[in-house]
Amino acid sequence: MKYFDYAATCPLDPEAADVFIKASTEYFANSQSLHDAGSASANLLEGCRREFARLLQVDSAGVYFTSGGSEANFLGIMALLSSVRKKGNHIITGAAEHSSVYNLMKKLEAEGWEVTFLSLNRSGQYELESVLAAVREETVLISLQHGNPEVGSLQQIEEIARFCTSKQILVHSDCVQTFGKMPLERLARSVGSLSISGHKFYGPKGTGAAYVNPRLAWKPFITGTAHEKGFRPGTVNVPGIAAMTAAAKIAHSKMDSELTRMRELRNSFLCALSISSERIRIFGAEEGSQIPGIVGMSIKGVEGQFVMLECNRRGYAISTGTACNVGMMSPSKTMTAMGTMGKDAKEFFRISFGRGTSHDDVKELGKFLLELSVHVSAV
Ligand SMILES: Cc1ncc(COP(=O)(O)O)c(C=O)c1O
Repeated sequence: MKYFDYAATCPLDPEAADVFIKASTEYFANSQSLHDAGSASANLLEGCRREFARLLQVDSAGVYFTSGGSEANFLGIMALLSSVRKKGNHIITGAAEHSSVYNLMKKLEAEGWEVTFLSLNRSGQYELESVLAAVREETVLISLQHGNPEVGSLQQIEEIARFCTSKQILVHSDCVQTFGKMPLERLARSVGSLSISGHKFYGPKGTGAAYVNPRLAWKPFITGTAHEKGFRPGTVNVPGIAAMTAAAKIAHSKMDSELTRMRELRNSFLCALSISSERIRIFGAEEGSQIPGIVGMSIKGVEGQFVMLECNRRGYAISTGTACNVGMMSPSKTMTAMGTMGKDAKEFFRISFGRGTSHDDVKELGKFLLELSVHVSAV
């Protein structure tokens, strides 16, 4: 099967897999244990923390390992809220945030916080003016994704964070779709917290990290938590973290060449689709504001689910949106946030490229989708 669903998850990098086996068999002791075996695990863990801090160009004191991107979003946001010193109960977020942020915001709203959910423009971006216009005296937090997981548009997080500094508003950014794919150093320095997920950059599933600016005096979500300086309870997954760190280093070493290759793959794919076709629609932003490996699209009059099943029959693994929406059979959150509703929203599907994708693969898939669109219109 040709895999075009890298935005959902990636295979484990073989080098990271070797690191996982070595760390699981040789550094299996609990990193909190006081014996020498525990210290060896703790040293490995601290080395990983320093490495992530180096990759993000931040202070390692702010790096916390988690069980994935969802938990990093949850704990990052709760850490920021616990550190707020300004008076206020207003939060700004996006209507197209990943469920781990969106559902948390709905819960906070039910608990009495006032939450503004911003819409996306036609390019899948939160307009800077709309973000700034939503700010009130009582706004304490803005939480917005860096890269949209369904159409791949990038958000202007640094600009938003710059504006927020003088207003004492903290910013969290979900960087799950962009870490390892593009440089995040400037963004990391500008936000209060950010989240990443191991399996999106060829690390193991069930691994992730949050960076929280160490200048913020956050409180543990669960009082009495001892691990990760109170950030997260539970035995630390040192082997998984070591493997994720190996994967992160590899992703960074390949970042420039992969970014260029992804842009070329995107162009080949769009050419093969002969994008002049009126029935095919591509969503997303301009080249400089777009994750090139994610193509959100639709074929007029055809449900995304049908396209996905037809592709599957032909041996292409594509998706109808983020995995959490798929399970709920609801239309893509991104489409709804962009103002595309009902039947039109259900036409959405997503292609995403990764290390195993070749030019021939994307041309073949593009040709197939084009044929499918012509065939369906003739029926
Ligand atoms: C933008 C975004 N945030 C968060 C997550 C959740 O990450 P994890 O699967 O590691 O919990 C995902 C996964 O699809 C995502 O795309």
